[in-house]
Amino acid sequence: MAIKVVSTGRAIPPKRVTNEDLAAVMDTSDEWIRSHTGIGARHIAAEGVAASDLGFEAAEDALRYALDQGLVAEKNLEELAATIDLIVLGSSTQDYYSHPATACIIQHKLGAVNAAAFDVTVACSSFIYALETAAALLAADTRRKRAVVIGAEVLSAITNWEDRGSCVLFGDGAGAVLLEKRDGAGGLVRSILGSDGSGWEHLILRRGGSRNPWKKGEVVEQVPCIEMNGHAVYNFAVTVITKTIERFLDEEHLALEDLALIIPHQANGRIIQAAEKRLNIPAEKFYTNMEEYANTSSASIPIALDECNRSGKIKRGDLVLTVGFGGGLSYGGNLIRW
Ligand code: UT7
Repeated sequence: MAIKVVSTGRAIPPKRVTNEDLAAVMDTSDEWIRSHTGIGARHIAAEGVAASDLGFEAAEDALRYALDQGLVAEKNLEELAATIDLIVLGSSTQDYYSHPATACIIQHKLGAVNAAAFDVTVACSSFIYALETAAALLAADTRRKRAVVIGAEVLSAITNWEDRGSCVLFGDGAGAVLLEKRDGAGGLVRSILGSDGSGWEHLILRRGGSRNPWKKGEVVEQVPCIEMNGHAVYNFAVTVITKTIERFLDEEHLALEDLALIIPHQANGRIIQAAEKRLNIPAEKFYTNMEEYANTSSASIPIALDECNRSGKIKRGDLVLTVGFGGGLSYGGNLIRW
């Protein structure tokens, strides 16, 4: 039995904001942003667009692609949506604080009337965790066959636009995959998931939770937004990306040449370059697109998977490795036989 990635999709907001656009309104420059991060632009959701809107668009795109390419037997979207057993959304910018799960809103919009839907929230590592969770739940019950796994973010809603050290990093978007349980080998081979909770404060949105709830009559001086200790996250990222790749190679008895492509979380080109140097991996092994989309948190890996799938950069039978990190601090990776 294999849990296969059958199809992929994505949703990118049309509004494109370049580094020059930011430099026109704050003390930054294209040169600084590019040289420190590799980011050239980001796409920003229109006012009123929430994670479920982008997540739905990406999920529908994945289902339509499956129908168009003849990857499923169903004839239309309604039929296909009704066969989905699970919708698992990775996100750190859900539509609503606490509940409902944003995945439930997507389930309703998609017409996936037979699906259980829930959110997985581990900051930028959410998609990696969501993929493993969905695959494990498909494997656990013979009656479950299909899952849609989504990473969707509207980070612009929680970005501190007065903090040039972090606001230039983020963008909005969503990506999705359709998973199916099939006979035979391949599919999701295994995942590595990990966390280092000692770094919980390094990437944080402090207000609104049970630790720091809103109080009646309180005057809001600063809307809740991302606070980040960039240096600590950077050092953690380089360490865990390197270690996770090494562990996959060692534990799965793989050589670098066995991997068709490594798809890292698209946070910062320098983090990837540091991993390349430490492990002596040629730059072409890593797929990057942060130049166009910046860091879209849990959406970055599924967006990249969709681009690579549709452009033929990854083909059936290829071994693909995702690897990422994020708030928590958290990290992980998925090894997928495409
Ligand atoms: O998904 C996880 C999300 N988080 C991350 O991936 C963050 C990981 N960390 C990083 O990527 C890097 O730490 C940053 C890109 C955030 C920062 O890069 P850095 O090379 O560590 O820069 P820095 O914070 O040491 O700042 C260097 C200088 C400072 O000026 P001074 O004090 O040397 O005069 C900053 O004030 O650059 C300044 N600076 C900027 N200048 C122009 C910081 N942000 C900007 C900016 N434009 N946007």
